[in-house]
Amino acid sequence: MTTLRQLAVETLTHMVESGQERLAVDDEARGILRQWMLDARKGSQPAPPVPVAESTPAPRAEQPEMSVEEKLDFLRQKAADWKPARRLGTLREKMVFAVGNPHARLMLVGEAPGYEEERQGEPFVGPAGQLLTRILGAMGLQRSDVYISNVCKFRPSMGENQGTSNRAPSPEELAACQPLIMAEIRAIQPACIVCLGGSSAKGLLGTQQGVSALRGQWFECQGVPVRVTYHPSYLLRNEALSARRSVWEDMLEVMQRLGMPISEKQQNYFR
Ligand code: URA
Repeated sequence: MTTLRQLAVETLTHMVESGQERLAVDDEARGILRQWMLDARKGSQPAPPVPVAESTPAPRAEQPEMSVEEKLDFLRQKAADWKPARRLGTLREKMVFAVGNPHARLMLVGEAPGYEEERQGEPFVGPAGQLLTRILGAMGLQRSDVYISNVCKFRPSMGENQGTSNRAPSPEELAACQPLIMAEIRAIQPACIVCLGGSSAKGLLGTQQGVSALRGQWFECQGVPVRVTYHPSYLLRNEALSARRSVWEDMLEVMQRLGMPISEKQQNYFR
């Protein structure tokens, strides 16, 4: 089984291989990396190749002179052959990146492409995606007004006879793809992010808590306010009015945060 440490080593190796020579880390991460280096000096494990050179340029996707579109093109190309994900051997081949407006103020992040998304090469186009499009419509938004992505860019594999079945990404799969979604957030710089479901919250916020515990609060990811709500596929499985009402209440909070007009009719949906 792949350990967190092996994954971190692979991710950092890939970053170094693809030309990244600087990395911002917080105190906690610095402490963990230092400990790993000390362990490695004692001889048992390989040291992570931490990129540190101060004078070297930031990775291309981080360069301020690039347009958002250029940054996303760059990331899309990187994602297509993203070694940390490919090396796991548990994700399917086809990469499904993101869709929508690179200048959107609202970014929605789901878990991973499913059968239909893999087939069409676009996130949220299957039954859950159609429901998401209806929720956006109720907010007065079209898909082209927002940016829609996933924490995991590949459909998780279930072996040879997978058919139309899907599964949630594992913690290793989420960790492997996390640098991509983080870079997308830095490129888009949305005013607000909605995590659709628990996998998305795990990938963006690093939490192990479920959606019910996370709803009703604002979190932050790279300085962007984040709201967590149920995944549309949960609403498809659970027809209870209370579940739909919960998602709608979360979306009203998001609309308010974005300064969007809220009509009396919208205010009173599900009341
Ligand atoms: N579910 C997701 O989380 N993402 C998709 O793109 C489709 C279904």
